[in-house]
Amino acid sequence: MSKKQIFILGGSGFVGSHLVRRLSADGHQLTVATRYAPAARHLSIVPGVRIQQCRPYDLESLTAAVEGHDLVINLVGILNERGFNGKGFRRAHVELVEKIMIACEAARVPQMIQMSSINAGEGRSHYLVTRGQAEEMVRHANASGLLDTAIFRPSTIFGPDDSFLNRFATLLKISPVLPLARPNARFAPVYVGDVVEAFARVIAAKELGGEIYELCGREVWSLKELVIWLRNQLGLKRAVVGLPDALGKLQGMAFNLVPGKPFSSDNFKSLLLDSVCADNGFLRLDIQPWGMGELAPTWLGGNGSKDKLHPSRSRRD
Ligand SMILES: NC(=O)c1ccc[n+]([C@@H]2O[C@H](COP(=O)([O-])OP(=O)(O)OC[C@H]3O[C@@H](n4cnc5c(N)ncnc54)[C@H](OP(=O)(O)O)[C@@H]3O)[C@@H](O)[C@H]2O)c1
Repeated sequence: MSKKQIFILGGSGFVGSHLVRRLSADGHQLTVATRYAPAARHLSIVPGVRIQQCRPYDLESLTAAVEGHDLVINLVGILNERGFNGKGFRRAHVELVEKIMIACEAARVPQMIQMSSINAGEGRSHYLVTRGQAEEMVRHANASGLLDTAIFRPSTIFGPDDSFLNRFATLLKISPVLPLARPNARFAPVYVGDVVEAFARVIAAKELGGEIYELCGREVWSLKELVIWLRNQLGLKRAVVGLPDALGKLQGMAFNLVPGKPFSSDNFKSLLLDSVCADNGFLRLDIQPWGMGELAPTWLGGNGSKDKLHPSRSRRD
């Protein structure tokens, strides 16, 4: 396997921190670009890693930063914007990707991997619509021979340090009743270790080939099943109440106004679609993905065991 010089945007975050360690183990040289260097300080001791503070929306600065690399990985993504009109999503998901592609072309970087999301381009949420627009640009760059690309589209990603299970765990701990919008929305939570293994295998191949990989764990859960399972796992006595859509929508509108937007109208719209794979890319990469109920108890501890899982969970392979 050839060792690559890899430039990672968004590498300081949850997935990035796991990815950097995994790619370092393969002997690649990594530049972790961050808007604020202290955010990536925890990665500075990883072998082969250089932290570079950069202004990703400044094309000149970005072009200079990517120069000399073989591959750019874009992990930047936001679940909510400050405003309500989609401008923040367009900036982070579309304008940035456009700039990355122009910078790659100018600096002669041949490859790019775009982290996207399951259901990109479907539905009405700004999150998914802008994800789809970014994918379209990446696919076009690949088809016209400008860049050799790959796109990853994971379902919700879990791990000991995720924001998904940890956010629900916090809500369960502080609230006697948890009202849940879109309780029947389905997910196939995917383990972060499996996601970064998929990246590592795709990077090890000579060409990315314009491939698109949906990534799903091997258990499918409804949101309500998942939260009840987590509650039991944590040994808490809490009521989890599924909201009808009219109330779920109102919940989104109310949380729009809470600082940090723990939930939003845009999140509600994304939840109108199930986050499950039509064609699980792990199979093409010869990876057997974990299911959340099999693995998460190893760090959640608590009362749970596999036997307590909801019977409707299904094996996907
Ligand atoms: N976690 C999941 O369940 C999940 C599921 C599907 C898809 N994804 C996608 O996977 C990618 C990584 O997810 P993650 O959970 O690791 O996210 P994360 O922890 O929030 O990290 C994303 C990183 O992007 C940078 N960033 C954030 N907002 C930005 C902005 N407005 N402009 C430029 N950079 C910004 C930040 O880096 P600096 O502050 O250092 O610049 C941040 O560390 C994202 O694209 C996400 O949408 C995640």
